[in-house]
Amino acid sequence: MTADLKTNFIIEKIKESKLPNADFSNLIFGRMFSDHMLVADFIDGQWQTPKIMPYQALTYEPSAKVFHYGQAVFEGMKAYKDAQGNAFLFRPDENFKRINQSAERLGMPPIPEAYFIDGITELVKLDKDWIPTGPGESLYIRPVYIATENAVAASPSSSYRLMIMTSPAGKYYSGDVKVKIEDRFSRACDGGVGYAKAAGNYAAQFYPTEKAKAEGFQQIIWTDSAQHKYLEEAGTMNMFFRIGDKLLTAPTIPESTRILPGVTRKSIIQLAKDNNIAIEVRPIEVNEVIEASKKGDLKEIFGAGTAATVLPIVGLKYKDYYTDLPKQENSYADFFKNKIMDIQYNRVEDPYGWRVKVD
Ligand SMILES: Cc1ncc(COP(=O)(O)O)c(C=O)c1O
Repeated sequence: MTADLKTNFIIEKIKESKLPNADFSNLIFGRMFSDHMLVADFIDGQWQTPKIMPYQALTYEPSAKVFHYGQAVFEGMKAYKDAQGNAFLFRPDENFKRINQSAERLGMPPIPEAYFIDGITELVKLDKDWIPTGPGESLYIRPVYIATENAVAASPSSSYRLMIMTSPAGKYYSGDVKVKIEDRFSRACDGGVGYAKAAGNYAAQFYPTEKAKAEGFQQIIWTDSAQHKYLEEAGTMNMFFRIGDKLLTAPTIPESTRILPGVTRKSIIQLAKDNNIAIEVRPIEVNEVIEASKKGDLKEIFGAGTAATVLPIVGLKYKDYYTDLPKQENSYADFFKNKIMDIQYNRVEDPYGWRVKVD
């Protein structure tokens, strides 16, 4: 790895920005892409110089391995703008570590830190004007890393491509979110790829989630594949359960290989500890939560993830049982959401060093 890769980036700027024609008034998640993207290839055992260039379509042969074997991992993170117009990332080192953890599990070579961190920094600097500034708005950053060798043998690819694109984002979910605890399908299994941000994990969720949607539930809370006894996570969020005044969340790697270790989750655990909120990170039985709900002790369920930050759940279904989860005064969900967003948007001091200025 070269120490000063930043100076080696090839940068081809867009001739005419698309920004004047971009409609920021109705941002639909992940539909609009900013002016530039990054492309870096790994060929013959060597990383090639990354290129930042206008966002554009790229061509691939049908034999490219990613299409056949799903050797693909990705990340999701955001850039935020403060009232003075400065741009910030939130814990980008965590996303960097996680993409390489995912890559390792899928048999892909590690991405050099400078490609990822400096690449994102360069992109955000170039497309800073694409960061929307309305409440809760941000620039979503999507690195995706794929197998590009043109060969259909079922073996690891000899070449790979990292691409990073950015997309102005508003709120991820609009409207109330009700969840269904899944007791038939599974997203991940022990020793599998659940802890990796592998593309196939998401494809595996689509069919059961569409079925849940048809029943009126926007998200599924997955349970362990062996017994469907323990609560895991939802589509793109880790889950937190408040029983009485105690917060519960399921363990991630190394205790569990089935759950994605979320950056938002990790931040909430830290904030809970530092704000005297009792938190237990341990396997959570479905029955424990349902029993608590029947007794009136289940105060809140919320999801935690980059897209929505913290998302309160308003209804829960498990087999024949259903309960509404009325909004709480002084909810933990609001507490954590505000704490995290205040750091992200540079509204408070950041005692943790989570906020990284882009300049
Ligand atoms: C499966 C899954 N779980 C949890 C999360 C939350 O992770 P993070 O807080 O890092 O966004 C995500 C989103 O990235 C996800 O896709």
